Amino acid sequence: MKALVLAAGKGTRLKPLTNTVPKHILPVGDKPVLFHVLNYVKEAGIKDIGIVVSPESGPYIEEAIGTGSEWGGQITFIVQHEPLGLAHAVKVAKGFLGDSPFLMLLGDNLVQEGVKDFLGEFHTSSSDASILLKEVPDPRAFGVAELDPSGKVIHMVEKPQKPKSNLAIIGVYLFTAEIHKAIAQIKPSWRGELEITDAIQKLLEMGKVIRSHLLQGWWLDIGSNDGLIEANRVVLDAFLERDIKGKVDKQSSIVGRVEIGEATEIENSLVQGPVFIAANCRIKNSLVKPFTNIRAETVVEDSSLERSVILENCQILKIKHLANSVIGKNTKLTGQDKDPGEACTEQSRRIRLFIGDDCKVEL
Ligand code: DAU
Repeated sequence: MKALVLAAGKGTRLKPLTNTVPKHILPVGDKPVLFHVLNYVKEAGIKDIGIVVSPESGPYIEEAIGTGSEWGGQITFIVQHEPLGLAHAVKVAKGFLGDSPFLMLLGDNLVQEGVKDFLGEFHTSSSDASILLKEVPDPRAFGVAELDPSGKVIHMVEKPQKPKSNLAIIGVYLFTAEIHKAIAQIKPSWRGELEITDAIQKLLEMGKVIRSHLLQGWWLDIGSNDGLIEANRVVLDAFLERDIKGKVDKQSSIVGRVEIGEATEIENSLVQGPVFIAANCRIKNSLVKPFTNIRAETVVEDSSLERSVILENCQILKIKHLANSVIGKNTKLTGQDKDPGEACTEQSRRIRLFIGDDCKVEL
């Protein structure tokens, strides 16, 4: 069994951040989203791992992964020159995959349960594909599966306008080498992509058995700003433990599950967990409220933050009530000496920003 992790694609819905950094290395909790996905592969015991990257994302992803020894296997990078679809990515990876069965994961999808049990079921079944499904309120943005009353997959469509079920296909798939024959028979969809959903539908038409498994726990798709903020909320809430390595002065208070990295200094501030603050940061005269993720080398002074992701080497100075925001690295936000909205409620004064790398903003 091999693993194929897809980390090409343009990350359009996370622009401007993804103009300079691939979404797969944006942080969720204490690590990049792609590292969570690689951990699933490790837990499943798969050692031969291919990662599909784009020419732009490849160098960043290779640098972040380094030797890959953390995942205990052999990592092969495969370049997909254009993001022409998930099935196209499989086609590009054919040399790596050979005739092996494989686990395919989207490098920006997280699942609460990991993939180990799902893999176990596949080994004991005689199917040619297995998909994970999740009930969602509006499945139109996803691949959608239709099941018969016995739970057998009978039809699949990518992003249908009128979905026949509320079962979204999520970014975890298992295939035998039969999938390559199906991919060879499909044509690009209306959005110009070779869809993996169409390839699985083709397998059905070829008379192959497709198994499905309904996911009970959470599923997170990091494709948008709101997706990134929500993923941080869920993952910080689920996994973060209290671990204070940095220095906290007597005027500060750290409440609940807060991780503070080495050489970070907290002065005259209140931090209410779950909050992750990486190494070499300085937090002074500030309030850091739950579900905030602050990356290394960042300075926060005279500010209050909540439910936000602040990337490396930022300066957040005199900014009150920054909430539900994503701030790119090396960015400086400066507010006024006086809070302009003194007479307003906190709710109405909240600032929400989505800012890319290397920006300067005065509010
Ligand atoms: O999130 C689950 C959905 O993922 C499924 O319900 C859909 O059936 C499936 O087609 C896919 O839909 P998206 O339109 O959301 O996929 P997206 O373009 O966001 O790409 C998913 C991942 O695959 C992302 O990590 C980038 C990578 N990718 C994407 C394309 C189009 C590649 O590596 N190569 C590609 O050509």
